[in-house]
Amino acid sequence: MCGPTACDDTTPNDLQSVEHLLDLAFGSDRRSKTSYRLREGNSAVPGLSLVTRDTGVGLSGTISFWPLAIGATQAPALLLGPLAVHPDRQGLGLGIALMQEGLARAKAQGHGLVLLVGDEPYYAKVGFAKLPEGLISLPGPVDPRRFLYVELTPGALAGVTGLAQVPGSMALAVPHASKGEQNHCEA
Ligand SMILES: CC(C)(COP(=O)(O)OP(=O)(O)OC[C@H]1O[C@@H](n2cnc3c(N)ncnc32)[C@H](O)[C@@H]1OP(=O)(O)O)[C@@H](O)C(=O)NCCC(=O)NCCS
Repeated sequence: MCGPTACDDTTPNDLQSVEHLLDLAFGSDRRSKTSYRLREGNSAVPGLSLVTRDTGVGLSGTISFWPLAIGATQAPALLLGPLAVHPDRQGLGLGIALMQEGLARAKAQGHGLVLLVGDEPYYAKVGFAKLPEGLISLPGPVDPRRFLYVELTPGALAGVTGLAQVPGSMALAVPHASKGEQNHCEA
């Protein structure tokens, strides 16, 4: 269960409704955000793309997770997001429930480290904390106050440093985190 409702795997038939829900929650310019650079040429992790449904609004919530490779060692991690809940269903616990279910499944799959860009006060509710500044960079600007991580395996962050990339891609540049840019929700 995802809190008050069932938490379902996202199916190919859901994809158009998921895009619509993301446009509703984030606006149609959402693809300009740095997190999207890590979704292009990447594929969401099977088994970790979830939705909630209800008879009123259809899809009420969505979450997905994406594989990353970090730094010279290509250390594995996941990028959480996008996470969105329909405006008419916010504040009912769906966002937290989708994250709890997704993180539990990620842990069961053996993933140790999850990153995201988002509001720390919200994501702290499921264990996320600010990344130490300068440890990991993204292929675009990110406000370091909003660059968060959680360890699903204790110690998973130890020794992980460098540019986060789509697994298998080559680093062309290593941009540094910059304060004040992209100061909005990404996850
Ligand atoms: C952010 C979002 C996913 C939360 O989902 P939700 O189902 O409404 O949230 P939940 O019901 O699980 O959690 C509600 C709690 O989180 C808090 N909360 C919600 N959004 C928050 C935010 N951005 N910052 C801090 N706290 C937040 C609420 O105040 C509430 O706290 P309480 O339980 O102490 O009263 C949803 O509002 C949404 O889709 N927003 C638009 C898209 C977006 O901004 N997504 C990324 C967020 S960085």
